[in-house]
Amino acid sequence: MTASIPTPICNECTARPQVAPSKNVQINALKPHTPALIAALLGLAAPVLAGHQLENRDIAAGEAVYAEQCAACHGANLEDQPDWRTPDENGVLPAPPHDETGHTWHHDNALLFEYTKFGGAEALTRRGIKDFASGMPAFDGTLSDDDIWNVLAYIRSTWPKRVQEIQQGRNPPHG
Ligand code: HEC
Repeated sequence: MTASIPTPICNECTARPQVAPSKNVQINALKPHTPALIAALLGLAAPVLAGHQLENRDIAAGEAVYAEQCAACHGANLEDQPDWRTPDENGVLPAPPHDETGHTWHHDNALLFEYTKFGGAEALTRRGIKDFASGMPAFDGTLSDDDIWNVLAYIRSTWPKRVQEIQQGRNPPHG
């Protein structure tokens, strides 16, 4: 592999900025998930899917954490900062929406958790993407792991059921 090419964290959307409104996003972004969906529909993958970290969380507590810690950047209604696909002059992306028009639901629980706990740059470094100028701060020390799972569960709870299922399907199966 060649040296560090700046890689958008989500090839499904950041690299295709023309895909925006929620209906189109769902249709277009469904493609990469199709095998998982088919498997789930056939009842093959569903019982072995992991990703239970967001189950049985305290959604109300998560909503409070969101309002306090996340809303300033990601929007009180999870609606994002303007032009969230366009980096600023320092190459830093604005905060994306966390509702279903964004790409939060494209990622598995581990990435969402690490992105929140360790911040964007560190979460990506752990995945081999170095020197990414991330605007997402680390909440390690500010939020407990439970706070982080609660806030992620709150974010997930705002998505349509179908989107929740797709995100669930992005988690690796139990080994
Ligand atoms: C100072 C502004 C800021 C705050 C506060 C903030 N974020 Fe972010 N966040 C960002 C930016 C900017 C990105 C865009 C990605 C990047 O540049 O790395 C991002 C990306 C993310 C991502 C990965 C992208 C995605 O949509 O999946 C997650 C998950 C996330 N934030 C969760 C949170 C949570 C949860 C909180 C509150 C606990 C929070 N953020 C608070 C700025 C912020």
